Amino acid sequence: MSESTPQTDRAQWKSRLGFVLAAAGSAVGLGNIWKFPYITGQNGGGLFVLIYLACIVLIGLPIMMAEIMIGRAGQRQPVGAFEAIHGRKTAWSGIGWMGVVAGFIILSFYIVVAGWSMDYTLKSIVNFTKPIESQAATEAEVYIATTSIEDMKTFLVDKETDRQLHPQKGLLESRLTKSQKENHKRFMAAIEQAEDLEQARLRLLKDEELKSSVEAVENVEQQVAKARLEIAGSVQAKVNSLSATDLLAQVKLSKRRDLVFEKMTGTFVNLLTNGWHSLMWAALFIMITIGVVAGGVAAGIERACRLLMPTLFVLICMMVLYGTFQPGFSAAISFVFSPDPSRLKASGVLEALGHAFFTLSLGMGAMMTYGSYQSSKTGLLQESVMITLLDTVIALLACLMIFPITFSYGQEPTAGPGLVFMSMPLAFAEIGRAGMLLSMAFFGLLFFAALTSAISLLEVVASYLIDQKNWSRAKAAITTGLLTLVVAVPTAFSSDSTSVLSNWEGDYGLNFFDTMDHLASNWMLPLGGLFIAIYAGWVMPRRLQEAEVEDMPAWIFQVWLVLVRFVAPALVIIVLMQKVGIFDIDEWL
Ligand code: PHE
Repeated sequence: MSESTPQTDRAQWKSRLGFVLAAAGSAVGLGNIWKFPYITGQNGGGLFVLIYLACIVLIGLPIMMAEIMIGRAGQRQPVGAFEAIHGRKTAWSGIGWMGVVAGFIILSFYIVVAGWSMDYTLKSIVNFTKPIESQAATEAEVYIATTSIEDMKTFLVDKETDRQLHPQKGLLESRLTKSQKENHKRFMAAIEQAEDLEQARLRLLKDEELKSSVEAVENVEQQVAKARLEIAGSVQAKVNSLSATDLLAQVKLSKRRDLVFEKMTGTFVNLLTNGWHSLMWAALFIMITIGVVAGGVAAGIERACRLLMPTLFVLICMMVLYGTFQPGFSAAISFVFSPDPSRLKASGVLEALGHAFFTLSLGMGAMMTYGSYQSSKTGLLQESVMITLLDTVIALLACLMIFPITFSYGQEPTAGPGLVFMSMPLAFAEIGRAGMLLSMAFFGLLFFAALTSAISLLEVVASYLIDQKNWSRAKAAITTGLLTLVVAVPTAFSSDSTSVLSNWEGDYGLNFFDTMDHLASNWMLPLGGLFIAIYAGWVMPRRLQEAEVEDMPAWIFQVWLVLVRFVAPALVIIVLMQKVGIFDIDEWL
């Protein structure tokens, strides 16, 4: 089939806004809400945000344009689009194949996490934090009634010291490179086995590289110990000067928080380690996704996104507004936005680049597929900018939503799923009555964000069967959805100790869930993005390209061409080389 004669009966978006909302729905997902805030914090805030924005503009946006361009020109989903453009079989269709496989893999773990968000939405509706909170309060009182004043003081000093030490410790430790830490770990493991410690140490440290790593780590350890002593001194003085009433009140608060933390963690771990429970929610979630995809492009996907995206936006704004009235708001703002170059390493820059692919749904043909349901030849630039902007704004709002709450309620900004499923409920528990509403809003929002992304993942896979094999939409959606659920089984059971997969982690270093995430997000998406950039920059027929960008200023087209031809491929190759371990950029710079 020639490129200039799109099938007349092929599904189409009803409106340009509908397309933009659906594509933004794909982009805005779990990546924005739990991953972005966490990696931002970890990489020192402000400067990282700037670099992330640069990656989005220099690499994300051009590849987004390339994907939509290819989809529009081919009027096919990714496996068929390249053939349609060239009018014959071509090896570039491999990009589409990899996209279909990546879609399957991402969807299989995505629906498990999305299922957890449904579980927590329901838990919020029945106010699950209340019994946890009151049980903890009771136990805290028992602790006060049965513990000596001296022990309580020690407890409080330890807790408070740890809390204050945390940021400083993180900062000091972040200066060590990965290989320094690994060398030190090996050294310690070897020393432990030795009978004569001093002699073993001397022998091992004859190796210059090992020696410098061990010294670097020990140096940091000493600094941490020193900082700890200093903090403990002043904390001790403060605790000693507390009146008996204040001391008891503080011990009670601290103990109660500890207990709520323990119980809340327990609630999440119960879910995480119960494969059947996780699978049940994942099944429900995929049913909903199948329902939307089977509904069609305009009547299913576009309609759902038109409803869900504004709702999500309103919910997130409400949560941010709540946060502005919280005592931790200014601490949160400075944590997220004030640049701290000492906490940003070169590998953090690469992380920003890798995340740009995931968060914009690039590299696996989702945007290509969505673009293919558009026959318009105008507005490529405006649409891509809108989608990218919406995704970025929501990622930044997510930071402004999460951190004021965690900071105001004494929570550390912990990693990944922990931030969303442990720290946030913990804060909600403390907020009291309004906490229940906030919790419902938060998990509901997470569910909507995940749903609109999952729809696009399933659509890439289903549209292959629809476009290339002439399946009916309903049959394609149901088959691929159920197949995804089968692939999700090992993911749902990846932390279940009763499953056969429980020694996967020992063998691969990551559990099954993380292995899938790693494979798709760290390898398949950047690789897919690399080939898409090369294709759009060097291979795609100029005539077709020009037809897509007729309304774009010529200089912007030229800039875009330079970015997809040189800048994006070069940067992606650097990221991949770092991943293979050809070099460690932190040591190299
Ligand atoms: N962009 C989605 C997120 O940020 C994830 C996704 C990746 C969706 C690739 C589709 C394709 O969560």
